[in-house]
Amino acid sequence: MSGKPRVWVSRPTFADIVARLEPYFEVTEEPVEQVFSGAELAARLAGQDAAIVGLKERIGAAEVAAATRLRIVANLGVGYDNLDLAALSAAGIAASNTADVLNESVADYAWAMMLGVARRMNAAERWLREGHWHATEFTAWLGLDMRGRTLGILGMGRIGQAIARRAAGFGMPVIYHNRSRLPAGDERECHAGYVDKERLLRESDFLMLALPLTAQTRHAIGAAELALMKPSAVLVNVARGGVVDDAALASALRQQRLAAAALDVFEGEPLVHPDLLRQDNVLLSPHIASASRDTRRAMTALAVDNVLALFGHGPHAGRPPTILNPHVLAS
Ligand code: GLV
Repeated sequence: MSGKPRVWVSRPTFADIVARLEPYFEVTEEPVEQVFSGAELAARLAGQDAAIVGLKERIGAAEVAAATRLRIVANLGVGYDNLDLAALSAAGIAASNTADVLNESVADYAWAMMLGVARRMNAAERWLREGHWHATEFTAWLGLDMRGRTLGILGMGRIGQAIARRAAGFGMPVIYHNRSRLPAGDERECHAGYVDKERLLRESDFLMLALPLTAQTRHAIGAAELALMKPSAVLVNVARGGVVDDAALASALRQQRLAAAALDVFEGEPLVHPDLLRQDNVLLSPHIASASRDTRRAMTALAVDNVLALFGHGPHAGRPPTILNPHVLAS
């Protein structure tokens, strides 16, 4: 066995990018996508000096305790609710995410979902594939125009802002709510007006969720919030499962208290609430908003850069570019 530090990569990524680790590390990349139990994860992490993991790898206190040599966990995702950052920090382990490199790709996908559900593309395609197309009725498949409808954004970080910037081309006014109001220059650039959460819920024709999942944002959209929304409104979630109470959403859709939803993320994914699966006015996708080739490559490269940097290599030597807990570097 070589004396090099060891890196574990929890899922198949891009061989040419991961190869940049090889001069410095002994690299083990899992050859197939799989879901690890806590015990399997702990066993994989034991003996590793670094890990590149996906969002399905939930690293909590028990996994941290087992990872006695670990110095960094590089998350392949901007959200990091899968990591117990306090436990990692307490053990002196750095954590990083893939902030920024996926903003535009996720914003494109958010719009694709919004347009797709507004024009009923998913249901129409299913109908066509099932062989029902003999003639198209002039008044069938009527969807919603975007122009003039209000786009509301809950969570106005970098992804929310990228979504907002696209709205001008569709002629949509934008309102937003965020923990903290954006500086005036950013609001102007996004053509977005700050409102409180209740007004956002009441006035949005399309409500786009772009906020992280934290203890404070769990079920940010539940029965009470859905009840404030227009019955003609459309909800789009490209943020995280858990930000929405999926059972409450399914019930609002079933009772036509909400017109439609487009969802890339789910509570308890890969399981999807069965009532959401049954309804035609719901566009579903398997958590792929950042999944363009260029962006997934950029995310992999950034995770690799963070690992290299922590061990003093590469262009950012000593300063992992998207470290989440920089105070561990000082200790
Ligand atoms: C995807 O969901 C991410 O957090 O990057």
